[in-house]
Amino acid sequence: MERIAILTSGGDAPGMNAAIRAIVRAGLGSGVRVFGVRHGFIGLIENEIREMNSIEVGGIIGRGGTVLRTGRTERFRTEEGMSRSFENLKNCGVDGLVVIGGDGSMRGAYEFHQKYGMPVVCIPASIDNDISCTDVSIGFDTAVNTAVDAIDKIRDTAYSHDRVFVIEVMGRFNGFIAVEAGLSGGAEGIIIPEIPFDLDEICDRLRSAYERGKHSSIIVVAEGAAKAFEVGTYIKQHTGFEVRPVVLGHIQRGGSPTAFDRVIATHMGAEAVQLLLHGEHCTMVGWTANEICWIPLKQVLETPRKIDTERLLLAEVMAQ
Ligand code: F6P
Repeated sequence: MERIAILTSGGDAPGMNAAIRAIVRAGLGSGVRVFGVRHGFIGLIENEIREMNSIEVGGIIGRGGTVLRTGRTERFRTEEGMSRSFENLKNCGVDGLVVIGGDGSMRGAYEFHQKYGMPVVCIPASIDNDISCTDVSIGFDTAVNTAVDAIDKIRDTAYSHDRVFVIEVMGRFNGFIAVEAGLSGGAEGIIIPEIPFDLDEICDRLRSAYERGKHSSIIVVAEGAAKAFEVGTYIKQHTGFEVRPVVLGHIQRGGSPTAFDRVIATHMGAEAVQLLLHGEHCTMVGWTANEICWIPLKQVLETPRKIDTERLLLAEVMAQ
């Protein structure tokens, strides 16, 4: 294998640039030429492919987002999209592809390998942390820290005004950000899609906390479970407390990656190059028990990722 390509796909995640930097430098260090694809799979179809060098990835390890840009498209899953992509890669002499992205990006990569035989290695990158067979995806740690920083700031004003705040975090259909940020932020309640919730029970909890002298509270709600505005309105109507909803939104996607995200992204990028060069194709690099690992992509896509209910129970106990 003499030429490999990199693309970032789906929602951007802090740490993607650290992975890109690692792939370029590990690839060049192993004697292969590295090509960057802009705008994800859209760029693959539109032939936005150009060779990269070591200098251009200098200084990007600490930058959020992705210097290759990203995108979301269904076009790649079509016969036309994949055949054009394959032709474009072949015309550049590329014979291996690293896909940095989330669940949807990995499904596209898997199909591409199955239909065209293109060697692919995937790197999990999604703030949602919804990819199985790895403890963490790139970007999750940074997003959680961004959310916790916001929760800490909101707690100051909640305390000053004896208010209840309902803070909506991202996560698409999952509650991983909500659980981790809720626990770290000392939330008095965490609402996630994976577990049924009862707003009347939450109101009772807020009332008894108030009677115990806790005159301000924070409820963290995952966007896939409910809307902060709706939860806030219900609480206000059923408790009479002053309530404010907050939607954190896309600030959770940006920002300089934490040291942890930079470290795992660098390891994953370097490992992805080795897997391609040593014939371990159609795999995903992962980070498990604080070690780099790799898993067949088929197994990743067939394994659902489960929420850690122990963490949720711990957060409830701590919220007394
Ligand atoms: O998948 C990452 C994510 O940030 C989700 O948490 C969120 O629901 C979605 O992307 C938002 O998508 P977009 O950036 O296209 O609005």
